[in-house]
Amino acid sequence: MTMSDARTPTLPIAPQFTERWSPRAFTGEPMPLDTLMACFEAARWAPSASNSQPWRFVYGLAGTPAFDALLATLVPFNQGWAQHASALVAVLSTRTTTPPGQDAAVPAPWHAFDAGAAWMSLALEAHHQGWITHAMGGFDAAALQARLGVPDDVAAHAVVAIGRQGDKARLPDALQARETPNQRKPLSELVAEGRWTLAG
Ligand SMILES: Cc1cc2nc3c(=O)[nH]c(=O)nc-3n(C[C@H](O)[C@H](O)[C@H](O)COP(=O)(O)O)c2cc1C
Repeated sequence: MTMSDARTPTLPIAPQFTERWSPRAFTGEPMPLDTLMACFEAARWAPSASNSQPWRFVYGLAGTPAFDALLATLVPFNQGWAQHASALVAVLSTRTTTPPGQDAAVPAPWHAFDAGAAWMSLALEAHHQGWITHAMGGFDAAALQARLGVPDDVAAHAVVAIGRQGDKARLPDALQARETPNQRKPLSELVAEGRWTLAG
């Protein structure tokens, strides 16, 4: 079974949406900095409230102290597989923004929403270029802020592992069983016309 066979959309859509998924087995091959920067470039073009662009990224390439610092903030489960990634990226966003022409920062209530859009752009560009991404919420935010020097008014949302997809035989048995694209709730559970008629 190929990756795309495993996920069948119920309506015709661009294949990138079902072909992207989050494996945990990496080859460990080095990621060219230009390729990683192209992923950030894609993220840069995401939409945001008032074009405030609150997303920020701190990255480390495998084999560097920056990578080791990011890895150290992950929960042990994630460290186990993400240590073989080619890059780790902290997805951050500023909770306030200074509008053009103004001196004072104002709250940016949509900073997390906007950072989510940027991370998805990054993931889709990586996929387009033949690299896999795997977001992780399993990290110690306080440790990350301290180790990376992230200010308190910047939110840490996730750490993303990026690499080339490797053979799942590299993973422990329990993770090998999970190394396959998963499914989604049906549209009928997600979308309503005009009024909330959905379950929780
Ligand atoms: C914000 C966020 C946090 C996540 N945290 C973890 C994590 O800590 N560890 C992990 O193995 N996967 C994590 N995942 C991966 C999700 O489990 C995965 O994206 C989801 O099951 C959908 O699968 P797919 O990405 O393969 O389509 C996270 C994903 C997101 C978007």
